[in-house]
Amino acid sequence: MPRGRIATRLTELSPSATLAIDQRAKAMVASGIDVVSFAAGEPDFPTPDFIVEAATAAARDPRNHRYTPAAGLGELRELIVEVTKRDSGRVVSPSNVVVTNGGKHAIYEAMAAIVEPGDEVLIPAPYWVSYPEIVRLFGGVPVAVPTTLANGFKVTPEQVEAAITDRTVAFIHVSPSNPTGAVYSRDESRALAEVLERAGIWVLTDEIYQHLTYTGQRATSLAEVGTEALEARLIQVNGVAKTFAMTGWRVGWIVAPAPVASAVANLQSQLSSNVANVSQRAAIAALEAPLEATAPMRDAFARRRTTIVSALAGIEGLDVLWPDGAFYVFPSLARVLEVQMPSSSALELATRLLEEAHVAVVPGEAFDGPGAWRLSYALGDDALEEGVRRIAEFIGRL
Ligand SMILES: Cc1ncc(COP(=O)(O)O)c(C=O)c1O
Repeated sequence: MPRGRIATRLTELSPSATLAIDQRAKAMVASGIDVVSFAAGEPDFPTPDFIVEAATAAARDPRNHRYTPAAGLGELRELIVEVTKRDSGRVVSPSNVVVTNGGKHAIYEAMAAIVEPGDEVLIPAPYWVSYPEIVRLFGGVPVAVPTTLANGFKVTPEQVEAAITDRTVAFIHVSPSNPTGAVYSRDESRALAEVLERAGIWVLTDEIYQHLTYTGQRATSLAEVGTEALEARLIQVNGVAKTFAMTGWRVGWIVAPAPVASAVANLQSQLSSNVANVSQRAAIAALEAPLEATAPMRDAFARRRTTIVSALAGIEGLDVLWPDGAFYVFPSLARVLEVQMPSSSALELATRLLEEAHVAVVPGEAFDGPGAWRLSYALGDDALEEGVRRIAEFIGRL
């Protein structure tokens, strides 16, 4: 056995492509270059004042200076029970809830609870970069179920049914989606739930962008449209990061059947113990507030969505689907690549765009969606307009 080696489970782990591009853009900015970055996956707003005030008070309270239960503060778990009922109609108790260090940590711990080596996990593609890496960390096999712009970047129940094998243990669902912004309608969610119920596999539903929708239609949770059979296999993941502009506070959670929740709480007691109490108190303030408190942020995203999507749609060579939620748009460069640059890729064009036009986007390859770019519209209105102007000029020059 070679000494001093790094375990393959980590040498084979890909770094987060979105974070890497964002860091590169930030480094260029630090060296004085005027970069417009569409790469970030986080709201550009500060956390609302009332939440910051609650955290400041919490930091002064010695109750929060000690270890607390690994699964989370009782008050916060009670509140999560309430918002779960409000937002997805699911009735659970605090024993079904574990507070985690963000949604990513929640997904990691949920996968630790359900994936054995060789198990297959179905993931609609294009997908958020961390899902397959997390599945692989536990020896699982991520299986992509492809979607295209033509079908609205949504999998059909028939596709899911056909992808299920004897080794499939779970399906990952995210609506609104990162990177495409696709939102499944109630009927589409119901049809998907039926197939998943029949299959009897675990379903991890990532609801982190649940409150960011723009077409007047709410995002339907699979919990609302599934039967008890589905609920017995349903792991909901959520958090305060995107809705409340709290990415840096690191508070997420899972709501899951009791055996999963207690396995995850057990893992967390060995892995990271409780989430920082001050952050949990901030999350309590966020969840106690009416959702209207976040409306100004949602309105700003809605405005920017209109600006960016109309501008991109007007660029010759790009094909764009109006995203119904989250804060991403995923334009296809297929026509540009086919006609003008057959030997190139979205990745190469993204690199050139950054170097030549000083605009950062994430190439679709990172999400198993080649031939496209992901642009986040969580940036100021002026920067956004300048960025799309540069993109139009860059594509025009190709
Ligand atoms: C689809 C999706 N799920 C989960 C997360 C994780 O959110 P956090 O760990 O910041 O709570 C993100 C963050 O980018 C995401 O895009």
